[in-house]
Parts: sequence; structure tokens; C-alpha cells
Amino acid sequence: LEGFFVPRVLAGRKVVLTAGPTFEAIDPVRGITNISSGKMGYALARACAQAGAEVVLVSGPVSLPVPAGVRRVTAGSALGMREQVFAALPGADVFIGVAAVADYRPLEVAEHKIKKSGETLEIALTPNPDILAEVAARQDAPFCVGFAAESRDLDAYAEGKRRRKGLPMLVGNLVSDGMGGDENTVVLYDDAGRHPLPRAPKAELAHGIVSHLARLLDGCRP
Ligand code: CTP
Ligand code: CA
Repeated sequence: LEGFFVPRVLAGRKVVLTAGPTFEAIDPVRGITNISSGKMGYALARACAQAGAEVVLVSGPVSLPVPAGVRRVTAGSALGMREQVFAALPGADVFIGVAAVADYRPLEVAEHKIKKSGETLEIALTPNPDILAEVAARQDAPFCVGFAAESRDLDAYAEGKRRRKGLPMLVGNLVSDGMGGDENTVVLYDDAGRHPLPRAPKAELAHGIVSHLARLLDGCRP
């Protein structure tokens, strides 16, 4: 959509997004992370800015340039990302959780490098808070959009997630279709059902997602 007119469907709106993976430290040189390029989240942040929104992108560790018109704040762990999200949230009309947040973190972070012993090593993990579910459950919740990358049974898992977290909209895809690459095949889920988008570059999908969410948003809060 380079050089084309982008309808300013989010003019006057504030959007907060998460993108990329999180990194959960085990010791000073190691950690647990998820596979996430950050490309979809960054493309979406850019599309929101082009649509006229004020955009705050809370990003896990990725090496991508900050999209024009976007304020990026960086986060490491899920707990750090949660803190940045809640700091950015006042005044937000829309929250989009694109990040691949680690579901667990090590219960304890070793102060020094763990030395190998040749024996089995067990690392106890404790659950991380669900940032999206927490935001969506707030009394003054913004319009919340979730993402779900599944390895199978996309419709059942994606729609289940949308309902469990109380989201008006969720974007689902199969990991085999999109991970790491520049294109993806996604399905949008909302109260009206499922809406598959044609396979497209992530930049283009981002505009499709923005126009769908803007329509729902305008319907919700005229
Ligand atoms: N999410 C989040 N915080 C977490 C976990 C997930 O904000 N701690 C958000 C993601 O950014 C995404 C959505 O929730 O928008 C779905 O994430 P996903 O990992 O697919 O779902 P989970 O609820 O964590 O369930 P599971 O990993 O067991 O499939
Ligand atoms: Ca998860």
C-alpha cells in the first residue's frame, strides 16, 4: 500500500500494542523465550499510525526499526512488558496483544552462571500473568484484540481463546502459515463469526485487520 491513500479510520484514537517475544532470565547469560519475529506487530503498529492513531508499541527483544509515527517502548520479561502496557494504557481506545508472551518464567533467577554438572537439571517455572486477559477484564477496558498462533485446530482454539478472554476480536493463524516470514494467512474472529482474509504480505494484512477493528470499534462506541 506504499504511496496509496490510507483511510484515517483511527483518527483521534490511541492504540497500545505488544509485539515480539519476551525473555525470561534463568541466570545472567541464559533465558527462556518464544519464537516471534515481531514483524506482524510492527506492521500493525505502522498501519494504526497510518490510519491516524496515536500509537504506543510495547516491544519485546527484536531488531526491527521503529515504524514512522509510532512511540516504541522496550520490554524484556513478561512482567516488564505488563508494567509498560499498564503505564501506556491510560486514554487508550484500543489494545492489541500481538506479543508471544512466555506463559512461564523461572521461579528463581540464579545470581551467577549455572555451571554444568553432567546431571539432569530441573528448572522450576511459575506462570506469568496474562497481559491481554488482564487488560480485557478491566472495568474501563479499551477495545481489545488478541492474536493466536496455533499448530492445529485453529478455529476451535482461536474462538475458545477469544471467548475465554472476553475479546470482541481475535486474529488467528496456523504457525505453519506465517511464522518468521513476510506473508501470512489469517482468520479474524468476532461475535459475527469467522472472516478469513486472503493470504497476503503482513503489511497488507495489517491494513485489513485495522479496517475490520475500526468498523467494530465505531459500531461499539459511536
Ligand atoms: N497473551 C498475553 N499475555 C500472556 C499470554 C498471552 O497478553 N501471558 C496474549 C497474546 O499476546 C495473544 C493472546 O494472549 O494476543 C493469545 O496468546 P496465546 O499464547 O495464543 O494464548 P494463551 O492464552 O497463552 O494460551 P496457550 O499458550 O495455552 O495456547
Ligand atoms: Ca501462550
